Amino acid sequence: MTRPVMEWVKLTDDVSIIARESGEVWFHTASGTKGDADPFSAPMTGAGATGSAVRLLDGAIHLGFASIQKRLARREPTLAAYIVALVGAYHTSVHTPRNLCRAADRFNELGRPEVGAYLEDRAREETGHDRLALKDLRALGVPAERLVANFIPEGIKPLCERFDYLCFQDYPIGCIGYSYCLERISALKQQDDVDRVQALCPDGVDATRFLRTHSGLGSEVTHVEETIEFVASLPANDRIRVVRETYESALIMAEGYNHELLKPDAEILEELQQILQEPLPFCRGPYSSRNEKRRVHPPASALTS
Ligand SMILES: [Fe+2]
Ligand SMILES: [Fe+2]
Repeated sequence: MTRPVMEWVKLTDDVSIIARESGEVWFHTASGTKGDADPFSAPMTGAGATGSAVRLLDGAIHLGFASIQKRLARREPTLAAYIVALVGAYHTSVHTPRNLCRAADRFNELGRPEVGAYLEDRAREETGHDRLALKDLRALGVPAERLVANFIPEGIKPLCERFDYLCFQDYPIGCIGYSYCLERISALKQQDDVDRVQALCPDGVDATRFLRTHSGLGSEVTHVEETIEFVASLPANDRIRVVRETYESALIMAEGYNHELLKPDAEILEELQQILQEPLPFCRGPYSSRNEKRRVHPPASALTS
């Protein structure tokens, strides 16, 4: 009889995450272990399973976001913050196909064609997503190309740098953890998130193409499911690295959210207007009065690819 799968990954000096195929998951602290034997101090070596892989991956995101959970729950959308989010979405998606293809080539060179094929598929599926963000910006009357060429939101920059770094490693398996983190968070968005953004837009304007695609309503759900299955099929060393990178990416993303959440709306508008050297269309039009009531806004990193 085969034993049920149990997987574990050490995420910090003290904390490991442990999951069973059946769905149980828990955090384990080495310092809380009685006696000297910590059963999870040695890396796992066995085969994976989807039931445990998904819990390790989601647990890593949960731990990465632990410090800002309460603040995230209080956020309210504004149009200015949404424009920044679209700029962030553009930057997190524009180099995705190139980066994933680079990582795929490397795995093909390393004699791992199954990883290469998975990454090539991902690269194909992500192609053109930057253009969705540009279309949304244009729909809002924003000079999209000029804005993205001159502005990368501070909270987004470290994420883009991390992805570039991971894809250009000699062994770029971490890019799967990064992508999972971003796609899993996107897939949590539902129709009411789209409706709240739509309510900020002028009548007749469709500026939620990117959001719809990168939500529980679009292709992101399939991407997440496929990644879980793929990660579960990898050897233990790769699964460990993917889960650790999911955690690292969640920390960077949480830090970016934190940065954006602290920024008042007036500051965002001023920054955008300085970059463009002209007021944003909605500041002259009927939307400004709708925005004045709202002070808190979603983080730029709320839209990612
Ligand atoms: Fe995706
Ligand atoms: Fe995407």
